[in-house]
Amino acid sequence: MQYENSISFARRMDRNDPLRSFRNQFHIPKVNGKPALYFAGNSLGLQPRSTKKFLNDELDDWAALGVEGHLHARRPWLYYHKLSKKALARLVGAKTSEVVAMNQLTVNLHLMMVSFYQPDVKRFKIITEGGAFPSDQYALETQIRFHGFDPAEALIELTPRDGEHTLRTSDILAAIERHGDQAALILLGGVHYYTGQYFNLKKITEAGHQAGAVVGFDLAHAVGNVVLDLHRNAIDFAVWCSYKYLNSGPGAIAGAFVHEKHAQRFDLPRFAGWWGHNENERFQMKKGFKPMAGIDGWQLSNVPIFQSAAHLASLEIFQQAGIKNLRRKSLLLTGYLDFLLREIDSCENDFEIITPSVPEERGCQLSILFRKNGKKVFDRLTKAGIIADWREPDVIRVAPVPLYNRFEDVFLFAQKLRNSIT
Ligand SMILES: Cc1ncc(COP(=O)(O)O)c(C=O)c1O
Repeated sequence: MQYENSISFARRMDRNDPLRSFRNQFHIPKVNGKPALYFAGNSLGLQPRSTKKFLNDELDDWAALGVEGHLHARRPWLYYHKLSKKALARLVGAKTSEVVAMNQLTVNLHLMMVSFYQPDVKRFKIITEGGAFPSDQYALETQIRFHGFDPAEALIELTPRDGEHTLRTSDILAAIERHGDQAALILLGGVHYYTGQYFNLKKITEAGHQAGAVVGFDLAHAVGNVVLDLHRNAIDFAVWCSYKYLNSGPGAIAGAFVHEKHAQRFDLPRFAGWWGHNENERFQMKKGFKPMAGIDGWQLSNVPIFQSAAHLASLEIFQQAGIKNLRRKSLLLTGYLDFLLREIDSCENDFEIITPSVPEERGCQLSILFRKNGKKVFDRLTKAGIIADWREPDVIRVAPVPLYNRFEDVFLFAQKLRNSIT
């Protein structure tokens, strides 16, 4: 793509964008009475206009039916978790029996590790990325302690080479091989929350399996952002949240994937609840847990209907747009941001883009590391009507989201950034 640094070029790109009408399906927040330039979809996605209707349907059905809504609501509550399966399966490249919406992300991570982190004296290590999101770090640390091991010894955190910001795939693979005979679990983010690096899930999974380890991913920053192929990549398990790119609202219901190869592994340790029990006899209130096959057997509780209604509203939009089309636009949109940032005269003195420059190694987010005055620049941008994301100590994360961001937004961001630096 031959990009141009002009508003007319950006507007032309918007006019030719086959997905441009999707922006109208979202509420765009306002700053000082004007639509904000919203680049924080990697933190909290915007509200679809349809969400209110989905929630109101459930409020109305609850008002009209009370407990009868479990069977007689428009979308009967008893089976609600089944309604999101098709769209989730398409988003992450899975079978419907491999995915379910449930709980919150960190809860799901723990549930998966209960089943898939089974350390013994020989194999007890977990390989992960250094500087993982704190909740993941805490989950890993406490799971290791729970099994009586010492995180200082059992947790292998991979860090970039000196002078580099992101991990080389070859270094990840080499580390897996090096620790191979002691590695019980490889657990990485799909897209790193801080640097925006999109890891090579396929190669990492192959290397992990070669070493005899289980491989799982936290897809918080990957789902709805990049095209995933969890089933074909033979990934053992994955977890994600849906308040970022999946636009399902603050504290929204999370998701989980367990590969079909584990569907009948009733021998795996797990923490159970009644929603994971054989659904044909769930209400017989009998003793003795009999898990359902597949991911459904990891469910604990009955479905939170309001969160799930908001989730369905958003997933419907993904079904209409198609994740491959979104990714195609995303590559162009983030490519344009990258181009414009590099056009800023003083760029090398003031900041550095730490996200990989190769488009296939990143999602939509670019992380801009400031050499000086980063927070000041961020505050000026905020005043200028930009909603982005500041991460201590010195990074602004900017995520142009293909569902609702325009090329014009990206152009204006770069212009405002240039003005905020000087
Ligand atoms: C990579 C990653 N892991 C875990 C979490 C925490 O998720 P939750 O609060 O939904 O458990 C987040 C939240 O932003 C995240 O980005």
